[in-house]
Amino acid sequence: MMKISLLGTGLIGTFYTMSLHAHRRKDVIHTVCSIPESSARDFAMKYDIPKYTENMKEAIEDDETEVVIVALPNYLHKDAILMACKAKKHILCTKPLALNAEEAREVLDAVEKAGVFHGYLEDLVYTPKTLKAIDMVNNGSCGRILWTRSREAHSGPHSAWFWDKKQSGGGALVDMGCHCIEIGRSFIGKDIKPVEAMCWAETQVKPIEAEDHAIALIKYENGAISQVEVSWNFRGGMDLRDEVSGTEGTIRLDHWLRTGFEVFTTGSTGKYVSEKTESDSGWLFPVGDEVHALGYPHMFTDMLDSLEQNRQPRETFYDGYVVNAIMDACYKSAKSKKWENIDLVVWRGKEGITSNVELIDFDDHHFLIKKEKMPDGKIKLMLKEKSTGSIVQKYVDE
Ligand SMILES: NC(=O)c1ccc[n+]([C@@H]2O[C@H](COP(=O)([O-])OP(=O)(O)OC[C@H]3O[C@@H](n4cnc5c(N)ncnc54)[C@H](O)[C@@H]3O)[C@@H](O)[C@H]2O)c1
Repeated sequence: MMKISLLGTGLIGTFYTMSLHAHRRKDVIHTVCSIPESSARDFAMKYDIPKYTENMKEAIEDDETEVVIVALPNYLHKDAILMACKAKKHILCTKPLALNAEEAREVLDAVEKAGVFHGYLEDLVYTPKTLKAIDMVNNGSCGRILWTRSREAHSGPHSAWFWDKKQSGGGALVDMGCHCIEIGRSFIGKDIKPVEAMCWAETQVKPIEAEDHAIALIKYENGAISQVEVSWNFRGGMDLRDEVSGTEGTIRLDHWLRTGFEVFTTGSTGKYVSEKTESDSGWLFPVGDEVHALGYPHMFTDMLDSLEQNRQPRETFYDGYVVNAIMDACYKSAKSKKWENIDLVVWRGKEGITSNVELIDFDDHHFLIKKEKMPDGKIKLMLKEKSTGSIVQKYVDE
């Protein structure tokens, strides 16, 4: 059993607590910290947490605490992490790890020097569907991964600091693109180097400095491409979708709006439906178990088991650093309107992978391009002649 200090009791602190204290789990939040202190006290009472404070240092240095969870606004992650390193506590930090790659590298360096366990709380790679999909990809079900698409869109975040670039580090891209980027990496291979980014980011609707809508493409050294779509202007709930496309298969995941659970109601109860749902009447798309659908229980199981078993979790601060570096390149590209290099001062994956197209032999004289069964039942082949390079078509019997 681990005793945990939770810093921040907002939306994510609540989801984390619901996950950690549910289903007779053994790890407990022992101290909780938020401002004003009354919010920490109310939260502690609600979730049966023995101690509360508004003083971050006090929560981190609590003698009984082994693990600190950072669930604070983005601009406070670095200070909290450095304080926890000093106190030699193990650290789990929510996304994004930091405001930018430079800051992320600083905290990565700090946890490694302090020798404490570090986990990057990127829940969306831990949803049951995503874990299964990653497993299938790793087992070769989709062949060589060529393209991933990850989309997160809703009507905008729920606290003032998100909307202020100085406190958040950016807009929709920093807030949600970090999820999409890490989902793409998880399917393409986290040891494959992301090399270039191209990004469009605009403030389409909201009166803010940061972007409320962005689309990015991330090129990987092996030729794979990852497409990231984020918006704070999307109406109708929270759109969370992923797609993977490879030489042998395709995966489509819908996590929120179309999960196979549809309800019609006149709205007479006015009750909460699910995160970022905009209406409580008409046809609704509730989510059966939000914390599971978002991956939190599997994430904490991996984190705390890894800590106990002295191994690395699926997501570490190093992954958080790579994600911050990719986002920095996206912002550079949004300004320059060009492909920008992803500056990974620290790279621990493979180097020099090429994106060779694999040619499939049909016979001694042809490569196979494609085979298709036509409406008349015949099989049509597209072939490339090895000697001339000409493309030819041919019908064959089944
Ligand atoms: N899916 C996810 O992983 C996910 C979802 C939402 C938010 N987040 C991340 O979690 C972090 C917090 O987001 P949120 O939505 O919970 O924000 P929020 O505004 O709902 O809550 C922020 C919390 O931090 C506390 N806080 C602020 N300043 C403090 C200080 N100086 N000392 C102590 N406590 C302080 C507030 O009292 C509040 O409890 C952000 O980094 C955000 O990006 C992650």
